[in-house]
Amino acid sequence: MRHEVPGWLNHAVIYQIYPQSFSDSNGDGIGDLQGIVDRLDYIESLGVDAIWLNPFFVSPFNDAGYDVADYYQVAPRYGTNEDFKSLCDAAHERGIKVIFDLVIGHCSWENEWFMASGQEDRNTYSDWFIWTNSVWAPAPQGLEVIRGYLPRMGGYVTNFYVSQPAFNFGFAVPDPHYPWQQPMDAEGPMAVRAEVKKIIAHWFDLGADGFRADMALSLVKGDPDGRFSAKVWQDINGWVQKEYPEAVCIAEGGNPAIAIGQGLFHIDFCLPWRMPSYNSLFRKDASNEGGSVPGTDVFGFSVFDESGHGNIQEFMTDFERHYADVKETGFISIPVGNHDFHPRISSGRDEAGILQAFLFSFTMPGVPTLYYGDEIGMRTLEGLPSKEGSYDRSGIRTPMQWDSSANAGFSSAEAEQLYFPIDPEKDRSTVQKAETDPNSLLNHIRALIRVKRETPSLAGDADFKVLYAERGKFPIVYERSKGGECCLVAINPCGFPVTVDVDWEAEGVVCLFGQADATERLDNHLLRIRLHPASGGIYRKT
Ligand code: BGC
Repeated sequence: MRHEVPGWLNHAVIYQIYPQSFSDSNGDGIGDLQGIVDRLDYIESLGVDAIWLNPFFVSPFNDAGYDVADYYQVAPRYGTNEDFKSLCDAAHERGIKVIFDLVIGHCSWENEWFMASGQEDRNTYSDWFIWTNSVWAPAPQGLEVIRGYLPRMGGYVTNFYVSQPAFNFGFAVPDPHYPWQQPMDAEGPMAVRAEVKKIIAHWFDLGADGFRADMALSLVKGDPDGRFSAKVWQDINGWVQKEYPEAVCIAEGGNPAIAIGQGLFHIDFCLPWRMPSYNSLFRKDASNEGGSVPGTDVFGFSVFDESGHGNIQEFMTDFERHYADVKETGFISIPVGNHDFHPRISSGRDEAGILQAFLFSFTMPGVPTLYYGDEIGMRTLEGLPSKEGSYDRSGIRTPMQWDSSANAGFSSAEAEQLYFPIDPEKDRSTVQKAETDPNSLLNHIRALIRVKRETPSLAGDADFKVLYAERGKFPIVYERSKGGECCLVAINPCGFPVTVDVDWEAEGVVCLFGQADATERLDNHLLRIRLHPASGGIYRKT
């Protein structure tokens, strides 16, 4: 199967909204769908093409909604299904697509299908989850089994938290010692697949334009690199392609060759736990308390660090390998941040430093995302208690800072009622402040998105060639080209100026974004690039 790429995706930037923390329209302290509708002017002003919403379904919120109790209903705290439809309609009027989070590797232990499957009598749902056949038997290696929760004799396999029972998509190779391990095409796994299609149809029919599949390559058990889970997606996404040919399918896979392959998903994300080199970009030291990340450099400096000690080669080599696998069939996304990656990109960087990270993410091949609040440099609030299974992710999920009114304009509730507290800093960044400063991060990001949109050679599928990416040296320089147009991106994340000469034949060079005076022609071939500290730019051949 080859899933056609919808045209708009090629220049797209996707804005990620954590619904509980974006905008509260009814004063209960928690963001909601109407709140998002109220902020569509702002979202449109960013120039983004789509919004991706973290889960908004009925849930006990043991993992912030990644534990779904009812796949067919918006959680009352966010509104109603009608509100979701209105959000889609209002977004579509502005040319903005809506992507929902499809969490189908597991559900909540409060989901009625799971409750039914845990009863002693066999019923429709008995095989929808993975149950061992004895509460006394220990779990086989590689599986987490919870015993003694429901009356059924046996334990259930869980995916993440104890409250997230895994759906039964079968085993890659069922172990004959454990007769409860079913093949992928057994009745239970096939019934689960059929239900997943119903869930997708339900939200598409209400107006959604695509989904982001949570933990996409972990559906089938005994499948370390996800190739058997990909077979399940061949079925599901093949059906999507037939029924909803315009829909966008995004994987949280971390393995583009498998998640995208011949066009299975349109986009796959770089993920730190599957691609250690991704850590080396923005969070190397943070990810392991100042130490190294296994399998990467011993000295933990990120590439986007003012020290200039980071090693871009590590990521580029890995990226080029993944890119070669999927450049004809889909897109890799290099997120600067999201609701899982601690800390936010602002930690340890000023606005100029943050902007260089975005310049990279938005000009590399693929489709980038922008996590709410990162565009105004919102801080990570360290030391917050865990809420709804957030643990160390609390500080990156705090309310959006809109203006100088109470609760930074997020909500009219009492401060103690807010989902998470607002950044208490007096000089915290807000959209309002950033709007009035032509030099703000927000306005630079808007300009960057505009340039990305208008420049054919910055399309997701434009060709890509590394011109300079050396261990411990900067700048980072690469070329993008498409249909006879060609541009060069040069980035200096360091706190000091850098110079490099690259072989780049061009009559003349115009600066489309960033430091205007960075380039100097030495001869027909050689271009000298001289970048100020924390600076970079996009330069087009004339
Ligand atoms: C989501 C997390 C969530 C986990 C379990 C992820 O990859 O992004 O926020 O906790 O899946 O569903």
